[in-house]
Amino acid sequence: MTARFAGRVALVTGAGQGVGAATATELAKGGATLVLNDVDDAKLQASAEQLRALGATVSTYAGSVTDASIVAAMAEAAIAEHGKVDLLLNNVGGGPPMTPWNEFAESDLAHFRAIFEVNFFSQAMVLRALLPQMIARGYGKVVCVSSMSAVMGQESGSAYASGKLALHALVSSVSKEVARKGVNVNAVVLGNPPHWTRTPDRQAYLDRLSHIDRVGQLEEFGKGIAFLLSDDASYITGAAIPIDGGITTPRMNG
Ligand SMILES: NC(=O)c1ccc[n+]([C@@H]2O[C@H](COP(=O)([O-])OP(=O)(O)OC[C@H]3O[C@@H](n4cnc5c(N)ncnc54)[C@H](O)[C@@H]3O)[C@@H](O)[C@H]2O)c1
Repeated sequence: MTARFAGRVALVTGAGQGVGAATATELAKGGATLVLNDVDDAKLQASAEQLRALGATVSTYAGSVTDASIVAAMAEAAIAEHGKVDLLLNNVGGGPPMTPWNEFAESDLAHFRAIFEVNFFSQAMVLRALLPQMIARGYGKVVCVSSMSAVMGQESGSAYASGKLALHALVSSVSKEVARKGVNVNAVVLGNPPHWTRTPDRQAYLDRLSHIDRVGQLEEFGKGIAFLLSDDASYITGAAIPIDGGITTPRMNG
């Protein structure tokens, strides 16, 4: 049986830990060649070593995807080395500790813009850099990582929620432009993975929010995203798909 990502080249941003690393692991298990990015080179190299231990071919590109020159150089290097990028996981984004939460009435707009840079423009830039070669070859799978904050709203997190929701409009729009060109573009609306530090009260609240009474495991996010990057998801495009244990659809009966 052929591995499901055999012959595919995948680029994963923010692959040093968390959702990016978990999805890269699923792609590696499926036989993909990987180009990993992270702003933290030590985490990036550690992640790459773990995937090489699984037998994957892995190259790394350290740097921030909020920097247009880094994004351009990364895309150029990936294509020069592998001839193509078939699969893109646009994973970089985040709220605190990267950016402090604050209420909109107290926020300054420079801060608001900075959160958009990380959560929206970084992903738009990477997509813009890699999409033309996908269109030219008639093949591509793109997943942009959003959050339940985008669809639920988030008190003291309006910039993060807004930046993530802007991704949904980008995905929906671009997907229509490229649907007949062999390229699928989707967003994933993630619930909380377990690896973020939180208080026991906060943990209990997040567990309760999910219909299955727990936050998701990183592996569950990775597997869901890998499915969308696979040919098994060939008829799914333009969607913002929750991977959230049901959090974004409230219970009717408590
Ligand atoms: N953690 C959550 O609760 C949660 C919930 C919903 C959605 N998400 C989204 O999932 C995605 C991944 O989240 P995570 O929890 O795995 O994050 P994480 O903070 O655990 O890991 C993010 C990785 O990205 C790297 N990174 C950060 N900024 C970067 C930049 N500018 N350029 C390159 N690399 C950069 C970090 O060094 C880190 O290795 C993000 O888009 C996040 O917004 C997270």
